[in-house]
Order: sequence, then structure tokens, then C-alpha cells
Amino acid sequence: MDLKGRDVLNFKKYNREELEYLIDLGIKIKKSPKKYYDSLKRKTLVMLFEKSSTRTRTSFEAGMNQLGGHAIFLDWQSSQLSIGAELKDEARSIERYCECIAARVREHKTLQLMANAVEVPVVNMLCEKYHPCQGIADMMTIKEKLGGFEGKKLVFTGIANNVSNSLVVTGTKLGMQVTLAIPEKDPDAIDYELEKMAKKTGLYEETTDLKSAVKDADIIYTDTWVNMEYMSDPKFAKEKERRMNTFMPYQVSAKLLKDTGSKAKIMHCLAAHIGYEITRDAIDHPNSVIFDQAENRLHIQKAILTSLI
Ligand code: CP
Repeated sequence: MDLKGRDVLNFKKYNREELEYLIDLGIKIKKSPKKYYDSLKRKTLVMLFEKSSTRTRTSFEAGMNQLGGHAIFLDWQSSQLSIGAELKDEARSIERYCECIAARVREHKTLQLMANAVEVPVVNMLCEKYHPCQGIADMMTIKEKLGGFEGKKLVFTGIANNVSNSLVVTGTKLGMQVTLAIPEKDPDAIDYELEKMAKKTGLYEETTDLKSAVKDADIIYTDTWVNMEYMSDPKFAKEKERRMNTFMPYQVSAKLLKDTGSKAKIMHCLAAHIGYEITRDAIDHPNSVIFDQAENRLHIQKAILTSLI
């Protein structure tokens, strides 16, 4: 499979075989990391961050290091982008120093502008609409835990957002049933083209009935109800309170599994807001695979980087 030079903006243009290739490569790298120690020797990744991160930054940086290459962390606020330099020209400069640019940005159009301006592959490390590297890492975790995708059901609950979009893209392409048990969608994340694509597969549905949806689910997945940059913003306090009231019936807890008799594995991409979208007893539940998910970010980033560079 040749994915050299491709961008990873949202995986909408990738087919099932290409997604399976990345997942299987992630599993192979996880099993035999030493085999890949020199695969990106002397190669450089530049990681541009407009927003904060724990897992994404460290997994890309550690991954690049373990492949024999180097990652440069570039903070948007301490770059010339913060004083109004044109993104197009900054990206055209950055690509002269590296073999791949990865970026976490507020708006998807920023990634599109960069991808159009440069020759090197551009990787989306999260934007308001997608989190593709999270979605593919989660599919790797699902393959490890469930053995495959056909006939399996993932229920995402809370607010439809960038993470649920990436689970819908990857999950439905791989043959999983993806159900959103949601009272609302984050307006910034809505992608009508994606919804149309997903509906065409016959594997996508939306419901407000979490308890019914979770009964026969293989996976129950949740994420924050409030985008991380708004969580402690006083200007967002009223909307935060409204969301907390609206979404509390969609909280993932040990009680939800017990009451519904669900055997589902529990997933969360982290960071979690405990007592809101998820309880402590769900994070630490025997069915929780949350920290395997976090670990697999490392292995899949290595699969993505070795494939694109
Ligand atoms: N899941 C995830 O992207 O984690 P970070 O925001 O910490 O990178």
C-alpha cells in the first residue's frame, strides 16, 4: 500500500483497504517496535499547536523519536503567526525544514490552506470538525479488543463533535454500526457531506434513547460536552450550565452498564471531565479500555508517519 505524500485531514478520501492497512501496521509496530527504529532516520516532523494537548503532542513526539526521526514543537502563540504573519508563507517556510507538518488548529480551513500551500504531507492533529488520528487509533483499539468490525456496534453519546465525526468516518468505512445517542450536535462540528456519506452505508443512525442503544452495544464511547478551550471561560459559563443540564442523562457510568445489562467496552479519548460526561467508576471499570486507547495513539501515529513520509 503506497500512502506516501498523502495528507490526513479527515480520512474522508481514504478507502477501507487504506484504513485497514494503517490499523494493521499500527498493530505490527506495537508488537515489534524495534523493527521500525530506523524507518524515519534523520526525518523531521513539525508539529504546530494552536490549542493545548497532552496525548497528541507526546505520542507524535515520542513516535517520531522511536522511528529514528525528530519532532519540533511549534507553539502558534510563540511563532510569527501570533503577530499576523501569513499562514501560507509560514507553512511554505516550515516545509523547507521537514518531511511532514502536523497541526492542531481551531478551524479546519487552516489545515486546508496549509495543505494547499505545501508539498509535504499535512496531518490534522484535531480541529473543530475532525480528530482523524484519534478515530483511527480507536479503530485499532476496537480491532484488538473485538477482533474486527463487521457486525459490531459502537454507540457514541454526549454531544456530536469532532471525535464522533472521525468515529463515523472510520467506523462506517470499516463496516461497523455507528449510533450517535445524542440530544444535540456541536454546531461547529456539523458536516452534512459526512452525514450523507455515512447514511448511504446503512451503518449510521441517530437516536436520543441512550439506554436502548447501549443494551446491545459492543462499545460505549463518550467525550467532553464542552470544547476544552471553553471549559473555564467565564464568557461560556451560561452555555456550559445549559449543556450540563441537557447532557446529564447521557452520562456514562457503571450504573448505566448495570441498569441496561450492557457488556460494552467503555471508551473516552481523554481528557475527561469526571462527574460530567463520565464517572470515575466508568473510567476505572473492568470494561474500560481508555488507557489502551491512549497508548494506541503512539502506535498509530508511528503507522501514519512511516506511511506518509
Ligand atoms: N485525545 C487527545 O487528543 O488528547 P489531547 O487533547 O491531550 O492531545
